[in-house]
Amino acid sequence: MVTNASLKPLTPDVGLAPRRVNESAHRRAGAARGAARRRSPFAPLGALPLVGCGGVQSTLEPAGRGAERIAEIFWWMTGGAIVIWIAVIALAIYAVRAHPGSHSPRRANYLIVGGGAIVPTIVLTVLLIYGLAPLPELLAPAPEGSLKITVSGEQWWWRVRYEPHAGEPVVLANEIHLPVGEPVEFRLESPDVIHSFWIPALGGKIDMIPGRVTRLALTPTKVGVFRGTCAEYCGTSHALMSFYVRVEEKAAFDRWLMQQRATALPPSTPLAKRGQASFLANGCGACHAIRGTPAEGVVGPDLTHVGSRLSIGAGILPNKPKAFLHWIARTDQAKPGVLMPTFGMLPKADLEALAFYLEGLR
Ligand code: CUA
Repeated sequence: MVTNASLKPLTPDVGLAPRRVNESAHRRAGAARGAARRRSPFAPLGALPLVGCGGVQSTLEPAGRGAERIAEIFWWMTGGAIVIWIAVIALAIYAVRAHPGSHSPRRANYLIVGGGAIVPTIVLTVLLIYGLAPLPELLAPAPEGSLKITVSGEQWWWRVRYEPHAGEPVVLANEIHLPVGEPVEFRLESPDVIHSFWIPALGGKIDMIPGRVTRLALTPTKVGVFRGTCAEYCGTSHALMSFYVRVEEKAAFDRWLMQQRATALPPSTPLAKRGQASFLANGCGACHAIRGTPAEGVVGPDLTHVGSRLSIGAGILPNKPKAFLHWIARTDQAKPGVLMPTFGMLPKADLEALAFYLEGLR
């Protein structure tokens, strides 16, 4: 379920609430899980020890073509392993209980050569071929004309750039929206260390290597909210480098992208105005851009529509004024080792105004 429980709070006092995960998304996620279980031939066997493996970041509830293929391989291999385990245990019981005496040398040779060499060779060869066969399909580039998104893994957040066929690229951060049923080409890069881009529910993971561009084609098959993460240790806050992926119908996606392309609306309330003044006066614009204002920094995440995202701090805090305040005042505590300095020395009224202004940037 996409619930408060599955979007677990990572910081005790400011839990990540999925405020825009609506009821129909809940129902769709539930239906999707039901379908996934019906498809998996060994799901009933595997279900018991895997009850904690569901949710928005699960490889076992696939919502993308690549992930479906990978999950299928997982279930067949798990089923095979269970069958082999049962056979070995049955043989052990047979040897100890049903036939405790010694075997003839001929029979013993059959068992050793057959069970120790021939059967494992056949099983491993079949598994190897079965495991490698989908690779060309999983690594195939997206068809010509597909949506292109460049994602740059940075310590410890995600720079996202939509490259539409027409018009300027749209630079965003820490959240990705995708149209359902359409292949997408991700171009993955890194300016600092090796990261790894992984949306478990949609497909496999691939490294983001400084000085190189790696590519990954994904096709989401279900509408919903999913969670992606960095899957390669990349420094102190590696575990605090996540993002949300919202898969939606094409029309909703187009509307969203158009809205993200727009500049920020000017602040309309005195508190928001004070927040913007504080943002500009304290040099936040040296690192962050808010399109439509003098803030044009490119070091940190683009904040033009930061209030429209599901989370802040790269998937670790809910998008709420209280969490913004916590982030700005105790950045070092929220994400140890992060480049952004802590602004806890600002007057409380300024911090509150800043938080209010940023949360209002929809
Ligand atoms: Cu980036 Cu781990």
